[in-house]
Amino acid sequence: MANDIDRAGVAKAYARWAPIYDMVFGKVFDSGRQSTIAVADAIGGRVLDVGVGTGLSLSDYSPSTKLCGVDISEPMLRRAHERVRTLNLTNVETLAVMDAKNLAFPDNFFDAVVAQYVITAVPDPEATLDDFIRVLKPGGELILVNHIGAESGPRKLFELAFAPLARRLGWRPEFPWARLVNWAARHGGVELAERRPMPPMGHFSLIRYRKL
Ligand SMILES: C[S@@+](CC[C@H](N)C(=O)[O-])C[C@H]1O[C@@H](n2cnc3c(N)ncnc32)[C@H](O)[C@@H]1O
Repeated sequence: MANDIDRAGVAKAYARWAPIYDMVFGKVFDSGRQSTIAVADAIGGRVLDVGVGTGLSLSDYSPSTKLCGVDISEPMLRRAHERVRTLNLTNVETLAVMDAKNLAFPDNFFDAVVAQYVITAVPDPEATLDDFIRVLKPGGELILVNHIGAESGPRKLFELAFAPLARRLGWRPEFPWARLVNWAARHGGVELAERRPMPPMGHFSLIRYRKL
């Protein structure tokens, strides 16, 4: 799509969000974060939190879950570093500036990959999902929580009208479920384990893929 999201635009958008991100998106997105964390903690082991942002989720994981967090935005990640230091989160092994599409981790490395409100914010969602699966161990889970665009009706019209402004703010409000369905079919190495409606208003979904 013309005027689509690009890496420089995302980095610029989140540099602007960083100072106020927790105030604006802390509470409203919290139940989605908590449900992804519950799934990841039940799997345990080593978990990658991609697009970890200001690190809002980090203290909610079990202390026995080993965590790596990455984000494209240095200003967002600086806040995550402060959080880890202040709260003495000794289970956080790594925080690094990294593009979610080119993860600097070996194949089959993580027990779970978590991406909270990220997949509609990256420039190339399908290639990014491919790299999430590459770094997952077989049997491991990719756990997403995200806004999924409406398939019809007034919400769809609103999302399409809002899309150009939303891209400047750093995400795609009209991201369709079909895009994930097509990605999984093309990838061939994953199965959908769950899609669960999430607040606010059920417009968000918790989505789990298992690596075969
Ligand atoms: C809506 S925020 C979500 C932050 C956090 N996960 C939360 O729950 O609040 C999206 C995050 O994804 C990051 N992001 C966007 N594109 C990225 C990319 N290509 N690679 C890594 N992180 C990216 C942004 O910098 C931002 O921190």
